[in-house]
Amino acid sequence: MPSAWNGDILYPRPLDARIVSKERIKPMSTQNFAIDGACVLITGGTGSFGRKMAAKLLAGTKIRRLVIYSRDELKQFEMSGDSRYQDSRIRFFIGDVRDRDRLARAFDGVDYVIHAAALKQVPAAEYNPFEAVKTNVLGAQNVIDCAIDKGVKRVVALSTDKAANPVNLYGATKLCSDKLFVAGNVYAGWKPTRFAAVRYGNVVGSRGSVVPFFLRKRREGVLPITDERMTRFWITLEQGIEFVLDCLGAMGGGEIFVPKIPSMRITDLADAIGPGCRREIVGIRSGEKLHEVMVPEDDARNTVELRDRFVICPQFEFERKKDWSSVGSPCGDGFRYSSDKNTEWLSAEGLLGIIAKLDLPEAEEFARERGLL
Ligand SMILES: NC(=O)c1ccc[n+]([C@@H]2O[C@H](COP(=O)([O-])OP(=O)(O)OC[C@H]3O[C@@H](n4cnc5c(N)ncnc54)[C@H](OP(=O)(O)O)[C@@H]3O)[C@@H](O)[C@H]2O)c1
Repeated sequence: MPSAWNGDILYPRPLDARIVSKERIKPMSTQNFAIDGACVLITGGTGSFGRKMAAKLLAGTKIRRLVIYSRDELKQFEMSGDSRYQDSRIRFFIGDVRDRDRLARAFDGVDYVIHAAALKQVPAAEYNPFEAVKTNVLGAQNVIDCAIDKGVKRVVALSTDKAANPVNLYGATKLCSDKLFVAGNVYAGWKPTRFAAVRYGNVVGSRGSVVPFFLRKRREGVLPITDERMTRFWITLEQGIEFVLDCLGAMGGGEIFVPKIPSMRITDLADAIGPGCRREIVGIRSGEKLHEVMVPEDDARNTVELRDRFVICPQFEFERKKDWSSVGSPCGDGFRYSSDKNTEWLSAEGLLGIIAKLDLPEAEEFARERGLL
């Protein structure tokens, strides 16, 4: 962090400056956080992330109530029929994050919100840009407004590596969303609601991603490669969930948390999945980068490095609620956390171990063939 800060919060514009302008308030600490007994709401609770998070919360914690908030009744119906979600604590709410009134009703009595709802397909966002803005940006604003108005204690929003130095509209909407969540802490004023974001890279095995694609395609003996130089960050869904829950407990407000995760070259990934396959170079697609970035150079001066993560702190002093420099070291100018310059790399064995545990028919078939099960 650029300047010394003693850990206290001085709210920038108190409502009644005469009375409270000198008042200093201690930042929220993790001691104020308790998931047991709490009501948690997941926007996008029927998606890949939401389902896994819901299963984790129901099986691994003593939460009082879990609200799944999303639009499609079929996805909710199917989820409610799965034995992992047959639990008296779960509620299924049909609703759109674009609909502020519905969101406000759903947030009644909620302690913690995990905001996962998004339009996340790069080409779809490019082709339907107004729709991406409505869900990813205006939806984020609604979540923030309703959380403050309804006294939600903490909100963690899911971000993506595509939000760092974005080159496509999906990434740009998620960057806007990140900035709204950081600013939400100031909008909250004297109210206790705190917001943070978690930014991570590709989830191994997520819908439409390269791992399931290669697992199917290997049968044809040819794997299409966009560019042989390409690298990506990789995380498992389980790691993502653990990290989000950890950040929900650790946040002070205004942070963008970035986990330290390994990179892998696309060519190494192809060789691990289809060792005998021919590579066909198809060229980089529109809206894609050669390498992904999670901490851009221009954010590095506000970033603190911890053993297992980076914490991008708010740029503006008045937005900071917790002093992370006391528990980590500042990254400083010139630093950049990008998938090509990573110090940690996912090996072929590591990837195969992850694939063997994926809940996908093509992964199970592959794991059986390779004797990984
Ligand atoms: N998967 C990855 O590789 C990855 C990587 C980094 C970050 N992320 C982020 O992680 C989050 C979750 O991703 P995911 O993989 O779980 O996505 P997903 O499987 O596509 O799920 C998206 C969820 O959002 C809901 N949703 C979409 N639009 C909505 C709206 N307007 N109002 C309410 N709910 C809405 C969907 O349900 P309905 O369609 O029924 O509404 C679904 O439950 C996203 O924010 C994404 O940007 C994902």
